[in-house]
Amino acid sequence: MLKIDTHAHILPPQWPDLARKYGDDRFPVMVRSGGHHRIYKDGKFFREVWKNAFDAEYRIQEYRQHGVDVQVVSTVPVLFSYWAKPNQALELHRALNEHTAEICRNYPQHYAGIGTVPLQSPRLAIEEMERCVEQLGLQGVQIGSHCNKWNLDASELFPFFEAAADLGAAILVHPWDMMGTDTMPKYWLPWLVGMPAEQSRAACSLIFGGVLERLPSLRVAFAHGGGSFPFTIGRIEHGFKMRPDLVATDNARNPREYFSRLFFDSCVHDPQALRYLLDVVGYDRVMLGTDYPFPLGEQEPGSGIEALGLGDRDRARLFHGAALEWLGLPLSRFTRES
Ligand code: CO
Repeated sequence: MLKIDTHAHILPPQWPDLARKYGDDRFPVMVRSGGHHRIYKDGKFFREVWKNAFDAEYRIQEYRQHGVDVQVVSTVPVLFSYWAKPNQALELHRALNEHTAEICRNYPQHYAGIGTVPLQSPRLAIEEMERCVEQLGLQGVQIGSHCNKWNLDASELFPFFEAAADLGAAILVHPWDMMGTDTMPKYWLPWLVGMPAEQSRAACSLIFGGVLERLPSLRVAFAHGGGSFPFTIGRIEHGFKMRPDLVATDNARNPREYFSRLFFDSCVHDPQALRYLLDVVGYDRVMLGTDYPFPLGEQEPGSGIEALGLGDRDRARLFHGAALEWLGLPLSRFTRES
């Protein structure tokens, strides 16, 4: 059975050193020495990455061992650089998108790609998204769970979502710049506590801000199973009903109704949580996503779905059906003879 991993990150082996070019060490840089590849940000070590972060062929061999056929690759959120001057960030996004497109061109049966855009300038973000889809052959773009002071309902961002709907571009919402980071220095809490909350912030903003209501054709997927959003929908819906004066100011529709329009990846690390996610959002809304190749990702891609012992129809939907619908691609894109 065709298996498409919708949440997999890739890096180029090298990208423009904007920290040096603009004298701003907030730009992440890749430092290669002695066989190590280390990302530095703010002048400090951020993360070491290995061959499976950037070597397209090595990755294929690795994920094939788990029966995965295709990865939908996106950049690593530390590179979003929404804080930067838009034109400087655009240089980085363009280089990343060209790398993603090259891999998809070279291995069309093993990779599809979604691009990255300087969301801090909705105008440049729209232009780069159009380039991604119309010229580079990517399926859409990945965006952060918020952009500086803007949540995803910001009126400034609406033209971007409108353009995505018009283009038929798939949107992947990925947590980043986690809330509370300054007050949670220990225990990796921004990743363990902040990331799920970021996804709920993004989903609630798109729903309560009326973005999804106004753009019925917009296709949005949430990484990490939607974070805490599906798991706290009872509370969110209760708040919507009890205090519409606070919650329903911009959209009168019950938030639960939007599950049937959204996509969620399966990366929740708990069979009971995955079962709950399927029950609450619907068996047709969830797709394989692993956060490959990082340690917080699903280490055996697809094992969480397999552990549920579902029938072939549900497995097909989770392993590729929902992903193809989100991406706007036919099954034949990955099944034709090479
Ligand atoms: Co991720």
